[in-house]
Amino acid sequence: MYRVRCTWCRRLSRQEHGVISRRTTNVDRDYSDGRRARRRDPRCRLARSIDDETFAAIERAYYDHAVIFFRDQHITPPQQVAFTRRFGEIEFNIFGERWSVPGSPEIVVVSNVTEDGRPIGVRRAGENWHSDMCYASRPPRGTMLYALEIPKLFGLALGDTEFASTAAAWDALPERMRQHLDGRRAVFDFAGRKRAFPPTQAEIDRYPPVTHPIARTHLVTRRKCVYVMRDDCTGIEGMEGREAETLIAALADHIVKPAFVYRHQWRVGDLLMWDNCTVQHRAIQDYDLPQRRLMHRTTMGGTVPL
Ligand code: OGA
Ligand code: MN
Repeated sequence: MYRVRCTWCRRLSRQEHGVISRRTTNVDRDYSDGRRARRRDPRCRLARSIDDETFAAIERAYYDHAVIFFRDQHITPPQQVAFTRRFGEIEFNIFGERWSVPGSPEIVVVSNVTEDGRPIGVRRAGENWHSDMCYASRPPRGTMLYALEIPKLFGLALGDTEFASTAAAWDALPERMRQHLDGRRAVFDFAGRKRAFPPTQAEIDRYPPVTHPIARTHLVTRRKCVYVMRDDCTGIEGMEGREAETLIAALADHIVKPAFVYRHQWRVGDLLMWDNCTVQHRAIQDYDLPQRRLMHRTTMGGTVPL
């Protein structure tokens, strides 16, 4: 049993985190105030089947914290797919059509590694702040990354991932801004973001621009979140272009203020999952070959944002 204060949910919790620690044990949570709470129990492995009670505790931790991770996992692609399925249907990503794990089309390979001169996965995935597949009419509920290889420089882990709480960002907005945003919808365009592997015209045509509410409400927690991304959002419905651009930039900057950001330093064997409504994320590109990074990524199907 231990006490921690999570700066994202602002709760000082004893019981709740204690329950998680006893049941799921390898659930590792990090807090933006730099403290870390962790319990290990070799009996808890994602590779094994997870009973309903444990799964409920994991899901609760996921809703409470939006980013949770499990250390020291040894899972096969089918086991990752099975664990992802516990959260509902799996979402297929367009990049998985080019870079999936053989035999597991649900898993996208995220990697800078090349073999015989050809990339084995999506390189520089997500280097600017974003929420996954926000350009889709039903963006995925969440994403999981399983770390197989992490780049290192004299023992220092590189290639961290940063997460910003869009819920904490909403809470910190002044009332006037909240009123200004309520009911407004932003335009999300698949072609808006620059990618290391630019999509083809046929791929772009599969994702015509969509609109989503800027003040997005989480389906389960009912928390309001700021759902705006600098690259993917190309406008705001009913707002003149320049004005929309200024507002999108101001909100995108607000979301990633240091108080709302957690930076994950990866270890091989981490399985980390995040909520695509409550957080945005970006990959830090501070490494290059011969430093290798290899991750397996799955996404959970979502619903139309409200
Ligand atoms: C992703 C992504 C970040 C990373 O896979 O969607 O943004 O650090 N990855 O690899
Ligand atoms: Mn991403």
